[in-house]
Amino acid sequence: MSSADIAVGVYSKLENEDFRLLSIIEAGMAQHEYVPVEQIHKFSKVPLDRITYSLGKINKLGLIYQSKGAYTGHTLNYAGYDCLAIHALVKACVIGSFGQTLGVGKEADVYDALTPEGKRIAVKFHRLGRISFRQTRRKRGYIKEHSTWLYQSHLAAEREYHAMKQACEHGVAVPAPLGQNRHVIAMGMIEGGELARYKDIGKPEKVLREILRNIKRAYQKAHLIHADLSEYNIILQPDAHILIIDWPQAVKTDHANAAELLQRDLKNVLTYFNRKFRVNLAVEDAYKYVVGEAKRLPV
Ligand SMILES: Nc1ncnc2c1ncn2[C@@H]1O[C@H](COP(=O)(O)OP(=O)(O)O)[C@@H](O)[C@H]1O
Ligand SMILES: [Mg+2]
Repeated sequence: MSSADIAVGVYSKLENEDFRLLSIIEAGMAQHEYVPVEQIHKFSKVPLDRITYSLGKINKLGLIYQSKGAYTGHTLNYAGYDCLAIHALVKACVIGSFGQTLGVGKEADVYDALTPEGKRIAVKFHRLGRISFRQTRRKRGYIKEHSTWLYQSHLAAEREYHAMKQACEHGVAVPAPLGQNRHVIAMGMIEGGELARYKDIGKPEKVLREILRNIKRAYQKAHLIHADLSEYNIILQPDAHILIIDWPQAVKTDHANAAELLQRDLKNVLTYFNRKFRVNLAVEDAYKYVVGEAKRLPV
């Protein structure tokens, strides 16, 4: 069970006071490995007996960890952080309700959801440092690394959302960015699957040209390089058009390694098309086309 499964499952059981304590713990984690009850009490202005009740409840629901050391303290886990982000997106009327898991990746969980109007959307939970978090719990010198997972995941979502908005505004084929809070992004639901899943795609040259047109548009209009492009982050839709997903690591075209990153993206795509569909195009020719040194593609 992923932490999003836990969060989605318990979300409806939470009351305002529970969310309030979760967000006080979140804020306290900047200074404390485990946030002391006294601090939660001080900032929440909720009577101590109600705090004890609520902390017991959110602990039992699996949203926090309690320390059993010299003092009683509390720290968020990913499910607790998920609940805070979901709450904010529900309040902002981006999310109405949740459905099923669409994919659990290495660095993200993607969920199926509905807007308040009943439109299907996808919700992506970034999970950076998920593994190191478990390891660092056992270590000393914890605070910096500990708050890193929360911070890094938040940063990844912000970067991805920003890149998707830029790309979308300039006509690059991406899922529609709908909202972001903390480490979570809501976006348009896509149909189809990763290019890597298809044995036969009809007209591979046409698909490749469309991919390169979009890389070019991202580069020249949105000034972005995806920087993690491969057959796994290109979606082939039922209408045979493509979408490019998974943008957290995108860089601006003035980045010090821009040329290298663009060449790597192109190489990944071209190697795949060559191996799988016997389409031949040199990286150098695609590169010239994308940056505007050549008007046409020789394919
Ligand atoms: N907007 C979306 N609609 C439907 N499924 C999606 C959407 N975005 C991502 N997915 C699914 O979730 C998987 C993982 O998403 P992705 O953004 O590539 O994250 P990562 O690869 O870092 O885990 C995708 O390969 C795809 O199957
Ligand atoms: Mg991906």
